[in-house]
Amino acid sequence: MLFQRDFCVSSISLITAALLAGDIVTEDLHRNTPENNPSIPFEFNAENVERAKAIIAKYPPQYKKGAVMPLLDLGQRQLGFTSISVMNYVAKMLDMPPMRVYEVATFYTMYNRTPMGKLHIQVCTTTPCQLCNSDSIMEAITGYLGIQPGETTKDGLFTISEVECLGACVNAPMIAINDDYYEDLTAHGVVKILKAFQAGETPVAGPENGRRATCEPVTGPKVLTNPEPFDGPSFTRADL
Ligand code: FES
Repeated sequence: MLFQRDFCVSSISLITAALLAGDIVTEDLHRNTPENNPSIPFEFNAENVERAKAIIAKYPPQYKKGAVMPLLDLGQRQLGFTSISVMNYVAKMLDMPPMRVYEVATFYTMYNRTPMGKLHIQVCTTTPCQLCNSDSIMEAITGYLGIQPGETTKDGLFTISEVECLGACVNAPMIAINDDYYEDLTAHGVVKILKAFQAGETPVAGPENGRRATCEPVTGPKVLTNPEPFDGPSFTRADL
């Protein structure tokens, strides 16, 4: 039995019954495990302490809880996932009740609350990608790695997730691997990308068809032809 986030009060008795029967699976519950429980200490390293100070300084002191999302992200990047200890640490840093932080971390799917592989493969299967055969991309990845969405390879290198639109539909089908997008994919091409990562390389991100640099038509840009030439991606945070 699967319960989603939003439920009415009358659902509580159903949930309680399911919990008692051990018949409930929900992404919104935390269960202590040896790798993820509140007794495991967590604190930002020196670099992230400085980053956290800079992030918090962007908010008026009375609204510093507005920094909760970037601080959770920092914690996830440092530890590899958003553990209960990361959430508690961020709550303390921002003077927030821990429950308010749990609410944020359980609402947004970008916070991974269980240990992850070093490389998180997010396969978009929403309609535009699906129309461009994202099924074949998913099949190629799961077939090659021998795991299903939600699972991690035994060597701890890859975790696969099936996700909704990642906002790069014009270059469908696409996947994200950590912070990078790989686009215009083919089943053969995506396996080549995985093999490169396994060999310790970092394949160049972006469209894989070799025919465009970003999302312009493959026959070349038709509009906005005057601006400065594209000089590569830019980032709003220096640590990314
Ligand atoms: S549908 Fe796949 S990126 Fe939008």
